[in-house]
Amino acid sequence: MKISVIGAGNVGASCALEIARREIATEVILLDIKENYANGKALDMWQTAPVDSYDSRVIGVTNDYAKTANSEIVVITSGLPRKPGMSRDDLIATNADIVRSVTEQVVKHSPKAIILVVSNPLDVMTYCAYLTAKIDSKRVFGMAGILDTARYRMFLSEALNVSHKEIQAIIMGGHGDTMVPLPRYTTVAGIPVTEFIAKDKLDAIIERTKKGGGEIVNLLGTSAWFAPAAAAAQMVEAIVKDQKRVFPVCTWLQGEYGLKDIYLGVPVILGKNGVEKVIELQLNNDEKQLLANSAKAVKEVMDVYDKMTV
Ligand SMILES: NC(=O)c1ccc[n+]([C@@H]2O[C@H](COP(=O)([O-])OP(=O)(O)OC[C@H]3O[C@@H](n4cnc5c(N)ncnc54)[C@H](O)[C@@H]3O)[C@@H](O)[C@H]2O)c1
Repeated sequence: MKISVIGAGNVGASCALEIARREIATEVILLDIKENYANGKALDMWQTAPVDSYDSRVIGVTNDYAKTANSEIVVITSGLPRKPGMSRDDLIATNADIVRSVTEQVVKHSPKAIILVVSNPLDVMTYCAYLTAKIDSKRVFGMAGILDTARYRMFLSEALNVSHKEIQAIIMGGHGDTMVPLPRYTTVAGIPVTEFIAKDKLDAIIERTKKGGGEIVNLLGTSAWFAPAAAAAQMVEAIVKDQKRVFPVCTWLQGEYGLKDIYLGVPVILGKNGVEKVIELQLNNDEKQLLANSAKAVKEVMDVYDKMTV
């Protein structure tokens, strides 16, 4: 099993290490355009193996896609991260060029690969990869929902003084301030969360979750990487082990939730074939409206992308 990670920056390098630690690939190819950057990071990770006791081999390369040939999964993390004051959508012009050129190389060398996009603006970069790759949409999808849901679960865990392991939740919609956390589908060991917390406190947690990425950008001057990398690795593991996990995943919708020709976060079953099924929840009118608003915001950025490419 060969897995490639494109971009050896904060997210890409952490993701490659996490994949190696989980021992879900024999070979992890880490590629970056910056001369020797991935090579150096991969060498460091290779030397971590005896300490952490993993057998996966991480190999770093400078823009040499031949080394990624026949990867079964490729994680795309190349692109600029946000700086304070920026929205994810501000990254579109630069990152679209990067994701497009990277995807061309990826499909040329690994035509059967599953492509997992992490670069922002996430929903539109996944759309860009899909249009470029020209492969089944089940094999092109994006990571955001697991991260957003993890933030939500941690904020709830702290507020309720209960283990995050007990908190099940789902966040739908785009990876931005219009994301849609769903209290009706949030439980603590199967018990509705609303039995544990007052509405105003839950609303405050939802607001913090929506701006969770920005909170970290303001602290660090760049975006998060530990949780995003772990979330991407968790998706890779679900695919490699054919786990049929249910995750919120940025997926190509063709009529589900009344939405068509759009990449948006929805719950799916993830297995060896990629997105194996989109799960359609029975949303109430308020939830439907929030999802429609989120879809509208994503569509606007997709339109910007479409206009850039004509
Ligand atoms: N989906 C999410 O939830 C989520 C979370 C965090 C970050 N992100 C996004 O992930 C991306 C990476 O973030 P980061 O913090 O790792 O940034 P980073 O700047 O640390 O790393 C990006 C890397 O991409 C490389 N790169 C640029 N152009 C390339 C190309 N054409 N080919 C190969 N490599 C190239 C750069 O040299 C750099 O090493 C950003 O767009 C960020 O916004 C997404």
